[in-house]
Amino acid sequence: MNTAEKIEALEKLKEAIKQDESLPLQESNLVFGEGDPDATVMFIGEAPGFYEDQQGRPFVGRSGQLLNKLIESVGWKREQVYISNIVKRRPPDNRDPLPEEIEAYKPYLAKQIEIINPKIIAPLGRFSMNYFLPLAKISRDQGHKFEVEGRIIYPLYHPAAALRSTAVLTDLEEAFKHLPVIISGKTAEPEVSAPEVKIESKVKPEQTSLF
Ligand code: URA
Repeated sequence: MNTAEKIEALEKLKEAIKQDESLPLQESNLVFGEGDPDATVMFIGEAPGFYEDQQGRPFVGRSGQLLNKLIESVGWKREQVYISNIVKRRPPDNRDPLPEEIEAYKPYLAKQIEIINPKIIAPLGRFSMNYFLPLAKISRDQGHKFEVEGRIIYPLYHPAAALRSTAVLTDLEEAFKHLPVIISGKTAEPEVSAPEVKIESKVKPEQTSLF
């Protein structure tokens, strides 16, 4: 798909979500996602929060400010990546998304990924990570790269968690530093391929580090 076709396909997808009344969280605004439709890296969070719901844009609150800083720390601009969420409407009171909410929005995220076709997906936090790597554990597997269906999955801590803990922030900053290297393809092959059910049996945590 060329860029114009991607833009059109994303617009159609957005319309389809708007018109799907069976989707949960109808009382909140749609936060579809934004960024370069040709992005190499796609960041995927959990669900919009208060400010995202107000503005209809992903990661614009405090977590978003940290995400912007991290993106800039590796010399990129926010507009050069694509940023989205699994669940595309805000759960009330910022509660965690429910399994059935994640399930309901999944096909739309899958389509969004198919259209953008990024080389690397960086899930932010465990909910998003477990969409790609159902058995992964965030503290063990963040900052490691995996291959799922021909794409690199590079789980990262959620920026909100990094705002609550300096240890998490340090790990997130460290993991971010490796993103440009991963894009350049100058690292070893991902050590785990799908089906990722093999993570625990095949790879011991201490063996997973590539860096
Ligand atoms: N947290 C998320 O997971 N997504 C957002 O868009 C904002 C905060």
